[in-house]
Amino acid sequence: MAIRTDVARLTANDNRARKGGQPIVALTSYHAHTAAIIDRHVDFILVGDSLGMVMHGFETTVPVTLDMMIMQGLAVMRGSKRALVVVDLPFGSYEESPAAAFRSAARIMKETGCGAVKMEGGAAFAETVGFLVERGIPVMGHVGLTPQRVNTIGGFKVQGRDPTGADAIMADAKAVAEAGAFAVVLEAIVEPLAREITPTLAVPTIGIGASPSCDGQILVLEDMLGLSPRVPKFVKSYGSLAEHIDSAVAGYASDVRARVFPTDDHVYKPKG
Ligand code: KIV
Repeated sequence: MAIRTDVARLTANDNRARKGGQPIVALTSYHAHTAAIIDRHVDFILVGDSLGMVMHGFETTVPVTLDMMIMQGLAVMRGSKRALVVVDLPFGSYEESPAAAFRSAARIMKETGCGAVKMEGGAAFAETVGFLVERGIPVMGHVGLTPQRVNTIGGFKVQGRDPTGADAIMADAKAVAEAGAFAVVLEAIVEPLAREITPTLAVPTIGIGASPSCDGQILVLEDMLGLSPRVPKFVKSYGSLAEHIDSAVAGYASDVRARVFPTDDHVYKPKG
């Protein structure tokens, strides 16, 4: 068997081995150029189904399709070389049965070349997580706020505020970790909960609005760069791209209208 030595990507196992060590750093990306920029700074890149809201302007992630995830997953794989790339299983592509989940996940892995998939859901999906892992597909779990269920949970709400809800999230995290997930995303849960869940699991917890008590953190790139029109409370702003784009475009429009652009520097001259 010929073994390629030119590709040295981090794997799901590398990320799992970081449990309790230096915090895991992760961001989302949906296209080749942002993936190329963030690649050297992060341990994994998530091609999240939040692309439906961030790129396409949908109000939820529910309309996102498997084909959309595959197309953006491919772009991120093309742009990156080092980070593990994890691609979300979108709503409707895995819930029906473990076999349906396997078919969708196998398509994602084969058609994008990514190293793992992420699946929203807790104890009810533990069997599916195990089914995929046994068949060669590394799975990242996702519990707490699961945005694909926005229509049944009644909005994008912080989870685990009452003891019953908190117990259910603990049980969900344990169930997917014990079923074989290599890491578990904890989204939008109350502060003490991640502190209780993280030492209980043998695999890393990745927080998004889940406090510093997680083994790693993830944010949506456009949210932390100031490109999203509305961001949740848990986002820290590291840039103001929307303002930069607005002022750059205003400058361009004014130059074109004043015939200040293009100048001689921007035109092609004939040879000779
Ligand atoms: O789709 C996404 O961006 C996600 C993160 C919120 C973890 O699942």
